[in-house]
Amino acid sequence: MPPPAPSAAISAAAAGVSFEDVGFSYEGSGGERALSGVTLACEPGETLAIVGSTGAGKSTLVSLVPRLYDQTEGVLRIGGVDHRQLDVSVLREKVAIVPQRTVLFTGTIADNLRWGDETASQSDLEAAAAAACAHEFIMTLQGGYDTMLGQGGVNLSGGQKQRLSIARALIRRPQILILDDCTSALDAVTESKVKAALKAYGSKLTCLLIAQRISSVIDADRIAVLDDGRLVGLGTHDELLLGCAVYRDICRSQFGEEAIPHVSGI
Ligand SMILES: Nc1ncnc2c1ncn2[C@@H]1O[C@H](COP(=O)(O)OP(=O)(O)O)[C@@H](O)[C@H]1O
Ligand SMILES: [Mg+2]
Repeated sequence: MPPPAPSAAISAAAAGVSFEDVGFSYEGSGGERALSGVTLACEPGETLAIVGSTGAGKSTLVSLVPRLYDQTEGVLRIGGVDHRQLDVSVLREKVAIVPQRTVLFTGTIADNLRWGDETASQSDLEAAAAAACAHEFIMTLQGGYDTMLGQGGVNLSGGQKQRLSIARALIRRPQILILDDCTSALDAVTESKVKAALKAYGSKLTCLLIAQRISSVIDADRIAVLDDGRLVGLGTHDELLLGCAVYRDICRSQFGEEAIPHVSGI
């Protein structure tokens, strides 16, 4: 067994992800496409946000990365390699998805975190929890990392559960981290702390961040806008405000016409 990687850093290896003219139809959907012609790349160290209304195809798009489904058209590359050529277990070691719905089981916090990697040391747990801004609240619990969750144990808030599930994904030291609308229960301050800590934890981490709130993605390196399975915009917040009608509509609905923030202050 290889020695554990240093706890303060994710694997030194980095891998970007690229979608090349990707299309997808769910079986039984009568050929209706959940995705069509999506071409998009995210480099190591970059955070690419994905926005779009419910049903736009955001979760479907990211589920193709670890091959939960296989695209019906086009190619997906991980670190430049067609991901269908990778062994599925190797591929899934590289990619961690934190799903929309948090799944924690009855057991201690440490057990739940080690579900990501049962060989993780206590300092691995703490480094990952710190990167997900969970360490502090864990230390306020009487049992610390040995606190029992679930039946008969401590009930955590929605935001605390989300931070634990992010920490659990980091324990595996993924090269590609996918956050599927899993910061929705965090207040804005905690959410930006998590994002800053994630950057420090894995400076070469490739991060796909799905979010409903524009305020959650406004500082992403780039933002991709999906609409009805198609990529209709790609750029920074300010670029999209100028050039993407779908993005402007989402901003209007969240902030009102007058109060749409501009990052560069123009
Ligand atoms: N497991 C599934 N089987 C069939 N259709 C699905 C499934 N999951 C999602 N869809 C459909 O695919 C489209 C995109 O859904 P999804 O990727 O979940 O959108 P988003 O995450 O942006 O809300 C929707 O029309 C949705 O109804
Ligand atoms: Mg979704």
